[in-house]
Amino acid sequence: MIDVYDPVYLVTILFFVLALERMSSPKTARSGIVYAGAAMLVATIATFFIPGMGNLWLIVLAAGIGGLVGFYAAKKVAMTDMPQMVAIYNGMGGGAAGAIAAVELLSNVGLTYGALSVAGAVIGSVSFSGSVIAFLKLQGWMRQRPITFPGQQPLNMTVLGATLVVGALTLVVAPSWALPLFFVLALGFGLLLTLPIGGADMPVVISLFNALTGIAVAMDGFALANYAMIIAGILVGAAGSMLTVLMARAMNRSIGNVLFGAFGAVEESGRPVEGALKPIEADDVAVMLAYASKVVIAPGYGMAVAQAQHKVKELSDLLEQKGVSVKFAIHPVAGRMPGHMNVLLAEAGIAYDKLFDRDEINPEFPSADVVLVIGANDVVNPAARRAGSPLQGMPILDVDQAKNVIILKRGQGKGFAGVENELFYKDNARMLYGDAQESVARLVAAVKKL
Ligand code: TAP
Repeated sequence: MIDVYDPVYLVTILFFVLALERMSSPKTARSGIVYAGAAMLVATIATFFIPGMGNLWLIVLAAGIGGLVGFYAAKKVAMTDMPQMVAIYNGMGGGAAGAIAAVELLSNVGLTYGALSVAGAVIGSVSFSGSVIAFLKLQGWMRQRPITFPGQQPLNMTVLGATLVVGALTLVVAPSWALPLFFVLALGFGLLLTLPIGGADMPVVISLFNALTGIAVAMDGFALANYAMIIAGILVGAAGSMLTVLMARAMNRSIGNVLFGAFGAVEESGRPVEGALKPIEADDVAVMLAYASKVVIAPGYGMAVAQAQHKVKELSDLLEQKGVSVKFAIHPVAGRMPGHMNVLLAEAGIAYDKLFDRDEINPEFPSADVVLVIGANDVVNPAARRAGSPLQGMPILDVDQAKNVIILKRGQGKGFAGVENELFYKDNARMLYGDAQESVARLVAAVKKL
């Protein structure tokens, strides 16, 4: 029999797919978010019409409180704190999937559906506790560097094995102690899995947990025969998996290396870099910029911290008025989340056709008169080309091949990977110290005077 919520679910699923499609271009991404949000709201309301729903007011109250907290937090969050917000929201999704599986397991759904619920419970719980650790690390409430100890991997494997054995027991024999122990073990495994992963790898891990949450929701959907959950879960699982692979590829790492490599556990003292850091004043940089024919701007995490994008737009407009060609070099993992630089530059009104990805812009660096590196570090570190560096193999922006490279940063801070940057010591490199927003403002003022 077709219930009232079935056709509604069908339409919402269609909107989820359309939303994803729209998110693939910066021009339509905003409407994609609106489509997805509206479809989720409608699907949630439709769920109230499933026969046998009880505790309606409690659900409304919980959804109301959750909705308010989510709305307020999303409004307030700084762009640079977005990864941890995504982590905690995603963790909640995983936790909810785990909780649904627990209810299914308590109501004796039979072996097949029970097995799906066990799988949903393990994946959802791992995603929940792992995401909480990811949140704590990124928020700086916990040590960011990998937490490692001897015998860590064997312990993790033992906990995973025990989780699966107790999960099977829950299903077949169902002693009363098994279900709570099963969840404690599954949550513990998520925790142990995430502790040895460093802050720099967190966005990849969050994306992986996001995919896992989707899969857990899909498993629950099968157990509940709810196809909105099945399809939405599969969409999240597929999108999250693809993003995880793309990010790992951009860092030239395997997923296994991200999960088990404890990247950044040992702070690299680095081999001593020859040469000295050579400071430069804004007035001198302004002259170089104003009389250049080609300038490339390579932004990174520091531009996001300083919120310098609006000043950067002003500078690029000024230079263009003077006949200088200005292009932006976008590294796929610059900043702290996928598309971070694109979002900031779009917010400042910089046209998409001025943004070039690594493969497009790298051949252009040798002909660039000046490259402005604004708060980027790891993504322009030539150490990545050197065997033995922790960054080895990471594809970088070849800014060191330009005639002049000006690096805007506050001081001697290292990049997220904690590796000394060999670029800063090169003959063609100069350091413009200060907060990126203030430095770019000084450049704007100095160019205007010329
Ligand atoms: P980072 O290597 O993190 O370097 C940022 C630089 O900005 C630092 O050198 C810092 O130096 C400077 N800075 C910070 N605040 C500043 C401010 N207010 N004004 C001026 N400069 C400031 O940045 P990146 O090159 O963008 O690299 C991103 C890193 O994150 C990579 O290691 C990447 O693998 C990792 N990561 C990114 C992602 C995604 S999806 N984006 C995912 C996983 C990992 P000072 O302290 O001296 O100012």
